[in-house]
Amino acid sequence: MDKIVISGGKKLKGRVSISGAKNAAVAILPAAVLSDNVCRIENIPNIKDITLMCRILSDMGAKIKLINKNTIEIDSRAMSFSVAPSELMRSMRASSYLLGVLLSKFSEANVYLPGGCDFGLRPIDQHLKGFEALGAKYSLANGIVTVKCDRLVGTHIYLDVVSVGATINIMLAAVKAEGLTIIENAAKEPHIVDLANFLNCMGADIFGAGTDVIKIRGVERLRGVTYSIIPDQIEAGTYMVAAAATGGDILLENVIPRHLESITAKLLEMGVNFEEFNDSLRVFCNQRLKKCNVKTMPHPGFPTDMQPQITALLSTADGTSIVNESVWDNRFRYVDELHRMGAKISVDGRVAVVEGVNSLKGALVKATDLRAGAALIIAGLSAEGTTTIEEIQHIERGYENIVGKLQTLGADVKIVSSEPFSTGVSGL
Ligand code: EPZ
Repeated sequence: MDKIVISGGKKLKGRVSISGAKNAAVAILPAAVLSDNVCRIENIPNIKDITLMCRILSDMGAKIKLINKNTIEIDSRAMSFSVAPSELMRSMRASSYLLGVLLSKFSEANVYLPGGCDFGLRPIDQHLKGFEALGAKYSLANGIVTVKCDRLVGTHIYLDVVSVGATINIMLAAVKAEGLTIIENAAKEPHIVDLANFLNCMGADIFGAGTDVIKIRGVERLRGVTYSIIPDQIEAGTYMVAAAATGGDILLENVIPRHLESITAKLLEMGVNFEEFNDSLRVFCNQRLKKCNVKTMPHPGFPTDMQPQITALLSTADGTSIVNESVWDNRFRYVDELHRMGAKISVDGRVAVVEGVNSLKGALVKATDLRAGAALIIAGLSAEGTTTIEEIQHIERGYENIVGKLQTLGADVKIVSSEPFSTGVSGL
């Protein structure tokens, strides 16, 4: 029943170090299972999704050793094929990556249909299409997907939609398949490239990750390695927007500025200033921001995982902005919560019209998913008065120590634990 309580209006100042990328780590950890030796993964974000992935993998017999809060050693040599999938899979989208991994390792996989943030329909038809093209058969019963094959044979796969998950899952299945696999219309996100680099360090033969044509020549075996995860593009983007929302001046350390270009470009349009260095970025702003229109797109377009955060920022910009969500059907559920804070936003399907107001007012709101939670924190940091955010478990899934990092930047923010609601009558 923890809540985040923010007293708004403080300008963020100082330095913040960005953690490893969640969406790379949740793919690289299961990928380590393909190695026939121990893998040491460094710069892993210390977040709930990683804890969950580690529990799922250890449920399946992998030995997981926590070296420190951001380094894990994983030894999958004792893993044996398990028919009964872990219930935990249902609560995390990335558990679907176990389909590709187990198919490659055991020629069979049984995985619960994955959960994750609720943005409307989240099909895996492209994942299954890829597995089928590689020679596997799949079935779905009681919410469990079973994929089986005698052997996986490389082939040409054209994705009907640009899908991060399908691109990753097909890479995981194809890396030890016979011959060459070509994925066309592949996703190009930084975490796709990071996964390909990790697999290549283990001895894989992957070419073209980061472009829309990825070529994978199957190899016999993958060795153990030590690998460090890239910085989190979306965590960095979230702090950039938080600095802009409070008229602050912060230095983001441990970032790859190239990964942030689509976010920087939009904030520049709004009147935010930047100073770029090799692996750090200064973000500063001391004026009311201007309206701007945003359309989310697969990488290198503006990331959908930054859409709620920038919409919260636009809600106090000068003028009316249009936000077009082109990746997910239903990713504006958080807008009702911003309305409680006085935002003027009207939503019609995948389009939101954001009429900037002078300021937001603190209120009691709830996080509906991970990035929605981040947007409410940003709104609370700029709002007049106190904002209390409930359902913060969504936020803890993907942001390492966000309250601690914001406190270091001078925000008046804290986590408040409150007793669960009780009728006071025992047994009720
Ligand atoms: C990944 O989800 C991310 N999750 C999401 O980030 C992110 O929003 C999304 O990519 C888009 O960038 C992780 O990396 C763990 P997709 P994923 O497959 O893989 C359609 C966060 O906040 N589609 O790229 O589930 C789908 O419906 C999370 O960190 C199919 O039609 O996304 C959507 O419209 C939230 N069939 C579009 O493609 C399929 O088989 C993109 O989905 C697969 C996807």
